[in-house]
Amino acid sequence: MNVIPVHACLGARVEGVDLTMPLDEATFRAVFDGFQEYSVLVFPDQHLTDEQQMAFSRRFGPLETTINATGREDRLHPNLVDLSNVDPDHDDRLMDWTNRRMMYQSGNQLWHSDSSFKPVPAHSSALSAREVPPVGGETEFASMRHAYATLPDEARRRLHDRVVVHSILYSRSTIAQGLFDPAQEKGLPPVRQALIRANPVNGRSSIYIGSHAWYVEGMDHAESRRLLDDLIAHTTRPDSVYQHRWRQWDLVMWDNRCVLHRGRPWDAARHRRIMRRTTVAGDGPTAEPPYATRTAAWDGIIPGSVGV
Ligand code: OGA
Ligand code: MN
Repeated sequence: MNVIPVHACLGARVEGVDLTMPLDEATFRAVFDGFQEYSVLVFPDQHLTDEQQMAFSRRFGPLETTINATGREDRLHPNLVDLSNVDPDHDDRLMDWTNRRMMYQSGNQLWHSDSSFKPVPAHSSALSAREVPPVGGETEFASMRHAYATLPDEARRRLHDRVVVHSILYSRSTIAQGLFDPAQEKGLPPVRQALIRANPVNGRSSIYIGSHAWYVEGMDHAESRRLLDDLIAHTTRPDSVYQHRWRQWDLVMWDNRCVLHRGRPWDAARHRRIMRRTTVAGDGPTAEPPYATRTAAWDGIIPGSVGV
């Protein structure tokens, strides 16, 4: 097995491993170590079935159940995200960006960490490219560990012990109103996450932010917005970003604990893009209880949210 770095800040390409077969302990260990070190692993040429992809991801831990939202992303299996612009309900017609399900999926084009809006956020995700467009539709990755390491000491000190409230209703509200129906909204209360996290294997610290990060507790709202926006900008400076240009049957796995990612647009009215994601659940909450929150600020700031 060869592990070849693809960028100075994060990411490595892993060659000489076949993920369609169960990995022996030594090979799994090497993949595990590469994952802790590089945060993003690219496995080219992995002709995976959905079952094989789930089996590979399960080696890292139990899989998350996909939330049932407008995207119908869970239509294939509760543990599988179907990211696609092909509409199986209408003769595989292509859905463009005006389609409500595509609008929901376009939330992936904001820098984010998967499931940071859940009380126990995701450990990692693995995305398999089943069909890719000829241009566009890349996925970009940025290291929140590198971002932490390159902050001035004083800025870093300000962030410790801070708690950030995350909400998918907040992040989706920046795209369009009414993407969730009120019954779904009730099941998605805002959650509290630590702003600084450390990898339990190697102790390396990272910032933990993204599109779902709504506000910093105990901070003036405008100041908190500025801080979160500045941290995203710092993390995603162009020279810190690894852009993955997909080839069919690439499998890319990333560490949601310390990586931000976003999808790039493509001509969805003309080209198919079919991806499948498995998501490994994290091993616990990141902040002290209470894990979920419902402040007075919740009502009203997000239009269309519970109680409005
Ligand atoms: C995801 C995601 C981006 C893309 O699957 O979690 O954000 O490029 N995908 O499809
Ligand atoms: Mn994502």
